[in-house]
Amino acid sequence: MIGTFKKWVSGSTTEQVLSEQEMYEQIQKHPVPEHIGIIMDGNGRWAKKRGLPRTAGHAAGMKRVRETIRIANDLGIKALTLYSFSTENFKRPKEEVEYLMKLPIEFLRTDLQELVDRNVKVQMLGDKEKTPSYTQSALREFEVQTEHNTGMILNFAISYGSRDEILQAIREIIEEVEKGNIDKDQITEQVMSDHLLTRGIPDPDLIIRSSGEIRISNFLLWQLAYSELWFTEELWPDFSKKVFYQAILDFQKRNRRYGAV
Ligand code: FPP
Repeated sequence: MIGTFKKWVSGSTTEQVLSEQEMYEQIQKHPVPEHIGIIMDGNGRWAKKRGLPRTAGHAAGMKRVRETIRIANDLGIKALTLYSFSTENFKRPKEEVEYLMKLPIEFLRTDLQELVDRNVKVQMLGDKEKTPSYTQSALREFEVQTEHNTGMILNFAISYGSRDEILQAIREIIEEVEKGNIDKDQITEQVMSDHLLTRGIPDPDLIIRSSGEIRISNFLLWQLAYSELWFTEELWPDFSKKVFYQAILDFQKRNRRYGAV
């Protein structure tokens, strides 16, 4: 997937292969996305290709999560949202769901200290009630231990579905109208955004999906109205630093017009 890459220099494009360091230096020349959302897909296929159980793919995926957080934080990204478990993923075999639900416990043990040291603030987006109590405790511990951190916001979207999130926001807004707190004519885009789980965080500038699937799969549907979308064939456990850098370099080349000319 990597191979050649078009280097953008003052509006002209030049085909050339860049090293990791050169890519990093190139990224520094332009603003980086403030908020990146990632649909981490392909763990199962990665494992299957190696004759391993699907859970081995998720374990490898977790290592990639760690690396991705480090890279984003080192680049000065302000918010990173990782789609870790969708509301639809509950339909998977019981053992796989249980394995995925236990990953935050493992991640807490191995990574909490580094996240604290990096001043990262961890949050959970999703319906906590649907997750087992051990998952809720681990995520709560992350939130409590990092709540005063002022650096990158790391959102784990777990038991997350964007349509559910939107419906919940609508219910809350209706309640406020019924209570007379706001008039229905005062419902603006901002009011809607303020009732979503991402309230207070800028909408994602860039959405990345791995594994060659060109879908959004119920991820941040309201928030991605103006996001740049970037897809790669790489399976999530193979999502290397170079692939991540390439996504950002491509983002920096795009001309975001927000509907204007
Ligand atoms: C999709 O791949 C991936 C998931 C459903 C799980 C993603 C979770 C992680 C990468 C780890 C998260 C870590 C923490 C700490 C929460 P898939 O299983 O659908 O792959 P496939 O499409 O190839 O079958």
